[in-house]
Amino acid sequence: MAQYSLLNEETGEKTELPVKAGTRGPLGLDVGKVYAQQGVFTYDPGFTSTCSCDSSIAYIDGDAGMLLYRGYPVDQLAKQSSFIEVAYLILNGELPQKDELETFDRSIRRHTMINESLKRLFEGFRYDAHPMAMLCGVVGSLSAFYHDTTNNQDPEHRKIFAHRMIAKIPTITAAAYKRYFGQPFIYPQNHLDYCSNLLQMMFAVPSEPYHVDPVAAKALDVLFILHADHEQNASTSTVRLAGSTGCNPYAAVASGIAALWGPAHGGANEAVLRMLDQIGTVENVKPFMEKVKNKEAGVRLMGFGHRVYKNYDPRATIIREHCHNVLKHFGQENDPQMELAMELERIALEDDYFKERKLYPNVDFYSGIIYKALGIPVNMFTPMFAIARTVGWVAHWAEMVSDPTTRIGRPRQVYTGADIRDYQPMDQR
Ligand code: CMC
Repeated sequence: MAQYSLLNEETGEKTELPVKAGTRGPLGLDVGKVYAQQGVFTYDPGFTSTCSCDSSIAYIDGDAGMLLYRGYPVDQLAKQSSFIEVAYLILNGELPQKDELETFDRSIRRHTMINESLKRLFEGFRYDAHPMAMLCGVVGSLSAFYHDTTNNQDPEHRKIFAHRMIAKIPTITAAAYKRYFGQPFIYPQNHLDYCSNLLQMMFAVPSEPYHVDPVAAKALDVLFILHADHEQNASTSTVRLAGSTGCNPYAAVASGIAALWGPAHGGANEAVLRMLDQIGTVENVKPFMEKVKNKEAGVRLMGFGHRVYKNYDPRATIIREHCHNVLKHFGQENDPQMELAMELERIALEDDYFKERKLYPNVDFYSGIIYKALGIPVNMFTPMFAIARTVGWVAHWAEMVSDPTTRIGRPRQVYTGADIRDYQPMDQR
C-alpha cells in the first residue's frame, strides 16, 4: 500500500500518515497526529477531502453514479424492496428474514401514536408556520416525552428510540400539514402500511371515508427508499456532530431536520418547484439559463449539481422514470412542469457550463413533480424528505454512539480576528 507522510521542508520534520482503507473508495489519510507532532492544523472548509468517521451504512461512487445501502445498489432496492425493509436493512446491516421483517414492521406500526400533549404544542404554532419549523420544534420536544429510554449506551434503548423515531415522524409530519390547513389531526391507522398510513393521516378527514390509492402509496414508498440514506451528507453529519456530545437523540435528529431544510440540501425539492413556477413556460428556459450561467444574484439551477456525484445521480434516473408512470396514473401526462423540467435538463446536459462542471440532475430535480401529482403542497416536500432520511439519521447516530472510538466532534479553525489587545475603558475608545 502507498505510504504518505507530511514533511516540513524547513525543519525536515516528518509525520507518517497512517492509511485507512475501506471496502471501496479512496484511501483515508489519518491526520490525527499532525497537530501534536508538527503544531499545524489541516484545513478543509466544506470538508471536500475530509472523512469524519468510519461507516458501514452507505457508499457513494460519485464518478460512477452509484449508491449502495449496506452493499445493495439503490436501484435494486427501489425496484424490489419496500421502505420498511430498507429501513430494517439500514438499521441492522442485513436484509431481514420473513419473521424479522414482520416483527420490525409490527413494532413500527405500534409506535405511531404521539403523546396527546403534542397536539397543544402544534396549536401554539402560527397556522402558516413552515412545516419544517414545526418538525424541528416538535421532534426536539420528544426528548421531553421519552426521556426514560435515552441511555445512549444501552442497545435496547437505542432500538426503542430508533423504532419510535421512524414510527412517529410521519404522524408528526401529517399533524404539521393538518395544522397548516386548519383541519383536525387524524390518528394513525396501524393496519395500514407505512406510506398508506401517512397518506391517510394527511388527506383523510373525519367527515368522510378515505381510501388510499395504492399507486400513490407505492410512489411514496419508492421515493422514501431513494431518500433513506446518503452517507455523510450535511444533515447526517449534523446529527452525528450533535450526537457526539452525548445529547438526547431526539435533539440530535431535530438538529438534522434543521440542516436538511436549507435549499442547498433537502430544501432543494421545494426550491425546484418554485423555480419552475418562476420560469413559467418553455420559452423562458433559455433566458433563465443565461442568468444561471452568468451567476446573476446567486441564481442556480436548483436540483442540479452535487458535492459527490460528478455523473447522473442514480436516484434522479429512477425518479424520472417513475415520474412518467405516476403522472400517467393521475392523468397528468402533459404536466407543464414536467415538460419544463425535461427541457431544462436537455439544455443543461448539452451546455458547456454544466458539462465542464459535471453538473447533472440530482434527487431533488424530479421528486417534487411526483409529490405535486400526489396532491402534496410544495412546502411539504422537504418534510417528506425528512421522513425518509430519519432512517439514515437514526442509523448513523446509533452507529456512532456504539463505536467505542467515538469522541466529541470538535473542528479547529484558522483564527483571523484581532490580535491580543488591552481592554479600553469607555471614555478612551
Ligand atoms: N447551478 C449552477 N451552477 C452550479 C450549480 C447549480 N445548481 N451547482 C454548482 N454550480 C457551479 C458553481 O457555481 C461552481 O462554479 P465555479 O466553479 O464557476 O465557481 C461549481 O459549479 C461548483 O459548485 P460548488 O458550489 O463549489 O459545489 P458544491 O459541491 O459546494 O455544492 C451543491 C453542491 C449541491 C450545494 C450545488 O451543486 C448546488 O447549490 N445545487 C443546487 C441546489 C441543489 O439542488 N441541492 C440538492 C443537492 S442533492 C440532495 C441533497 O443533498 O439533499
